[in-house]
Amino acid sequence: DASDIEKGTYPHYMLKEVDEQPAVMRKIIMEYQNEDGDIKLDSSIREAISESDRLYIIACGTSYHAGLVGKQMLEKIAEVPTEVHIASEFSYNMPLLSKNPLFIFISQSGETADSRSVLVHIKKLGHRSLTLTNVGGSTLSREADHTLLLHAGPEIAVASTKAYTAQIAVLSLLAVDTAKAKGITLGFDPIQELSLAAQAMEVLVDQKDIMENIARDYLAVTRNCFFIGRGVDYYVCLEAALKLKEISYIQAEGFAGGELKHGTIALIEEGTPVIAIATQAHVNGSIRSNLKEVASRGAHTCIISMDGLNDASDQIVLPEVHEYLTPLVSVVPMQLLAYYAALHRGCDVDKPRNLAKSVTVE
Ligand code: G6P
Repeated sequence: DASDIEKGTYPHYMLKEVDEQPAVMRKIIMEYQNEDGDIKLDSSIREAISESDRLYIIACGTSYHAGLVGKQMLEKIAEVPTEVHIASEFSYNMPLLSKNPLFIFISQSGETADSRSVLVHIKKLGHRSLTLTNVGGSTLSREADHTLLLHAGPEIAVASTKAYTAQIAVLSLLAVDTAKAKGITLGFDPIQELSLAAQAMEVLVDQKDIMENIARDYLAVTRNCFFIGRGVDYYVCLEAALKLKEISYIQAEGFAGGELKHGTIALIEEGTPVIAIATQAHVNGSIRSNLKEVASRGAHTCIISMDGLNDASDQIVLPEVHEYLTPLVSVVPMQLLAYYAALHRGCDVDKPRNLAKSVTVE
């Protein structure tokens, strides 16, 4: 049928969408760059951000995880206070809002009911909103004051991959644009860094055999798996765990490296897979010592590190990218690990049980 044609030679949409990520990055660069090589953004969006005193990111699932990375960039690059909230929680447990909040809804589909209900509510309160979505004309796009499109192309697999990296890329440009508008000196060329990240992603999607071997070694028979990281790597661990849960049904959790000893380490047994991400120089030593702690308790450990921070024995070494863009590259091996784990365990990769691509009920 028609859908098989779209899939081309790929066995699954998910694998196709993982592979499309470098091209999506380039498409985003094209769409968000003007003739002078500067970031092209609607001036009304720039104004909405500059008039607000705090950003509230609202999202669900994978989009929420992209929001966490977005907060990191908006605070570190643009110095704008930013909170990230799970839509379904925000609805009935609203935090104390600042005087002039701007709400940023992140949603691949633009149709998620939990996010929409927050939008309806904050509009009643008279607050302004911006939606980041892959679907122009979607409900969240139509009902918000402003829209930024992800330009990731249709995402068919239930487990989100290219939308996540597209969300992070667009958020990085938003952060950089905001910083520039505030007169903050950056010290790096954001477009150049994004295109370097695209190249790095290209290298990683060509290393599928490595990821397949790790998936077979670590994940073919296990009942559980832990991902650990610090700072932005922790946020990627949350997404890595979600991907694995969604499609391979392995119970997986992402933990902050330093928090492991405060409880979770009790779960480590002989052979428990623990996968660490290490892309940040300032926590490279501490995450490695966290990994040693679990290894000494029998964990089957694996580390994915950034070139320059790596040890010779690290299982996966990521090409070096700008410190704020590391999630774009560290997530790629995680997506592929989840994919091959699901494949080895005979799961339906594109249509996992109990899940829907877009959840339009609260
Ligand atoms: C569903 C999907 C997830 C997705 C979440 C948010 O639960 O299964 O993959 O991350 O909705 O979707 P959205 O379209 O709002 O990004």
